[in-house]
Parts: sequence; structure tokens; C-alpha cells
Amino acid sequence: MGTMSATTPVTRAEALSHLPLPAADPAIRAAIADIVARVSALQSTITQVLPPDADRAGEVAAWHARNAQLRGRATLYPYVGAGLGNGSLVKLADGSVKWDMINGIGVHMFGHSDTRMIEAALDGALSDICMTGHIQHNADVLAIAEILVTQASRTSALRHCFVANSGCMVNEAALKVCQQHTNAAPRVIAFEDCFMGRSTTMAQIGDTPAYRQGLALNVLVDYMPFYDALDGAVSTDRSVAQLRALIARYPKQHSCFVMELIQGEGGFNVAPRSHLAALMKTCRDAGIPVWVDEIQTFGRTTEPFAFEGLGLGEFVDVCTVGKMAQVCACLFTEKFNPKPGLLAGTFMASTSAFHVGRRALEIMRDGGYYGKDGKVERLHAAFRREADALVSRRPEFFPAVRDPRGRLVESLVGGVGGMMRFTPLGGSKERIGRLLNVLFDEGVIALGCGHGPFHVRFLPAIGVMEPAQMKAVFAVVERSLARTLAEEAN
Ligand SMILES: Cc1ncc(COP(=O)(O)O)c(C=O)c1O
Repeated sequence: MGTMSATTPVTRAEALSHLPLPAADPAIRAAIADIVARVSALQSTITQVLPPDADRAGEVAAWHARNAQLRGRATLYPYVGAGLGNGSLVKLADGSVKWDMINGIGVHMFGHSDTRMIEAALDGALSDICMTGHIQHNADVLAIAEILVTQASRTSALRHCFVANSGCMVNEAALKVCQQHTNAAPRVIAFEDCFMGRSTTMAQIGDTPAYRQGLALNVLVDYMPFYDALDGAVSTDRSVAQLRALIARYPKQHSCFVMELIQGEGGFNVAPRSHLAALMKTCRDAGIPVWVDEIQTFGRTTEPFAFEGLGLGEFVDVCTVGKMAQVCACLFTEKFNPKPGLLAGTFMASTSAFHVGRRALEIMRDGGYYGKDGKVERLHAAFRREADALVSRRPEFFPAVRDPRGRLVESLVGGVGGMMRFTPLGGSKERIGRLLNVLFDEGVIALGCGHGPFHVRFLPAIGVMEPAQMKAVFAVVERSLARTLAEEAN
């Protein structure tokens, strides 16, 4: 496992156990134990992929149509959950059961109906308040900040933690902290293909044209290429030269370089430590803050923070996390602690989210997930075995893939830890879009990522998925690829 301490300092509900709190009441505990046992019995009936019930099809189709009317457009998939699942298997309202390989885009680290998470959520629901805010909160919410700061501070100078209810909001906080630190420096440096969230500012920094279409552009962003594995060390030299040129062109005008250490939406692109360290060091020498966006990576690599595994903590001034933690957080060093008034808000998150997040982080911390031989790495190895075997067995599914410069992409299976990708159908956006719909229909929920080539993306429930289950997932993948090819031929 990682280096996170097993003993979280006492800042939480146990410290109040002398008070007659509902969560400590024996009758309430017994009732919760009954509820959890009952859920466990119900979920144990979910054991394999199933097609929809024919007699529910009309009703569920009507829901989707109404949902599309209410939202103004249909959702990506015709997904309405039944509210029950078993680990990586989820039951939908139409009666179908599917492998959930995306989990709310990396949120449900313990999959569906995990009884430990349900128990934690019930504990949260017993609190006097449903939503937790910045002005009034209970002792138990401090535990998450404590877990995050304790872990982060082992290899970095990060010491403080501001909590909010979305990745985008903590990214806004991070940008504000960086701007205040640099006296309102107007420019931001970001990697090409990055994703940052959906506020007007984050949509502008994020490098996807459709996400900023029609927005009034008022943010000055300088894009840097991500690491280019085919160019190797040349890519690093070129990037450092480009960064130096940017700094020379706009001296003292950059508030930060924001980096995803492993690009998420951009395609699960990875870079070696040497590349990222060279860029971070160049920033440090120029007084440009380094902000690491770990909203997608947090919890999914060999250590809780990807910067730890990469040995980059010494360079990190600001770091944002979200998704699997259930609540989102902006961590910063003492030097970056902003003046009063800069960071606040009404909500932090729901009280149950704090309880579930804390439980998830504790189990991940103490349960043998991290390290080179941890559960995360073992799940990744199982994914690679199945994906590589499919590439060799069915070459017709994997035609040549070319990058934007026309070069042949050799690795059709990639990613790190709990971020997994493979690249069938030549990496074509249209064809992978068709495949994703067929996968959904056949029983695997996945998403795409990348801006060309495009990939199939898995963010599995690494807290509960067993490596052996990858075989069953890839049986559906194989069937779905065969069906996609057959449908394309017609
Ligand atoms: C790297 C990264 N940053 C920021 C965000 C935005 O987080 P949220 O959707 O919770 O606002 C995401 C979400 O996918 C992300 O992957």
C-alpha cells in the first residue's frame, strides 16, 4: 500500500462518542446492520450480464423520452439505474444488468451497492444536516481534509485543504490561489488536450473546441504539447525550449502551469517523470506556480496522488482532487494560503458524501491497494492481459492507428493503474462512438477519450473489481466489436 498513515488524527465523530449521538445509539446501529444485511441479500442476486426485460421496454423508453424533454436533449446512453448493483455489475430500470466500467466517470470507486458505502451513507444521513457548508459543519467532515493533507504532505509542501462540491469549483479555487500568489498574472499555461471542467473559465482553459463554443473568450491560455512518446527525450528538450520561449515572451505574466500528470479526457496519455520534472523545474526557476490537477488521477495510480508515484511532490504548489473522494478539494502550500475572503461558498457537499468519501479513502489507504504489487496494479495487469490477447486474437478489430502527424501508433493498449484504454477500429471517433453504443447494449458501460486517435476508456471500480472479472468484460467487448463490424458491413 501507499505511505498514508493508518491512524488519522482524532477530529471526527468518535471524539464525540460521550455525547448521545444517533450514530452511536445501539438500537440505531442494530437497525443499520439489518438494513445492510437486507441490501446484501438483494444484491447477491445480481451475478451476470442480463438483457432488458421485454415487458419493461415500453415504460423505460417513455422515461428516456421524458428525460430528454426535461433536459432538452437525450443523455449519452439510455441509462436509468434501478438503484441496485453488485460491485462492478449494475442493474438498470429496464431490468438489464451491465458491467459498469466507467462508474460515473471515476466516482463510484466501490461500484454499486457496496454495503460499507451504504453504511457510511446511512451514518451521514443520521446527521442533523443534509448539506454541509463552510460556515457550519460537524466534526466528522474534518476527517477527509485530514486524510488528504496527511497523505499529500509526506512528499510535498501541501498543507491546507479547501473543500467544494465539484472538480470544476476546486479548479476555480486553485486558479484564484495561483492568481493571487502572482499578483493577478493574466496568463495560464496548460497542456494541449487538457480537460478542466465546465465553468466559463475552465471551459476556456480546457482544450476541446466544442466545450467553449459560443463562449466569450476572455482567458489567456498558452498551450504546451504533452509528452510525445515516439520522440522520447527529444520531446522533453523541445517542450522545455518552448516553455522557456513562452516565459521570455510574457515575463511575469503567468499565474500557473496547470498539469494533468496523466491526461484523462485527453486520452490517458502518460509522460515519464523526467519530462514533467523538467517542465516543473523550469516553472520553479521562473517563479511560475505548478498546479497539478489530479481530479481524475487521484486514487487510481500506485499511490493515492499520482505526483507521489512520479516523485514530483517537491514541485507541487497547488493540487486539486475530486471524483473518487466523493467531495472535491484544492490543496495548497503555506506560501499559497490565500488572503481571507478568496475561497468560500455555501455548500461543501452532502454530509453523506463526507462519510462515504472518508470510508472509501480509508479502505483504499489500508486495504493493500497501492504500491507496485497493490490491488490497483493487479487489476491493471489483468486488463492488459485481456486487451493484449484480444489484439492478437482478432487483428481485424485493430486496424492501424495513426496519430495527428500521420505516424503509426504502436501501443493499442494503454493507461496506468485504474485508468485503462484500448484503441480498436483505427482510433476513429465515429466508429468508436458506434462501438460504445453496441457495448452498452451488449452489457458494458464505457466511454471514449482522446482527441484523435480516440480510445475506449475504462475507469473501473478499483475498490471492488476482481482481476478475474476482466475476462467476462472482454467477452462482451469481443462480441460487441464483432457486432459493430457486422453492422458496418450492412
Ligand atoms: C482532470 C479533470 N479536471 C477537472 C474535472 C472537472 O470535474 P467536475 O466534472 O467534477 O467539475 C474533470 C472531470 O472529468 C477532470 O477529469
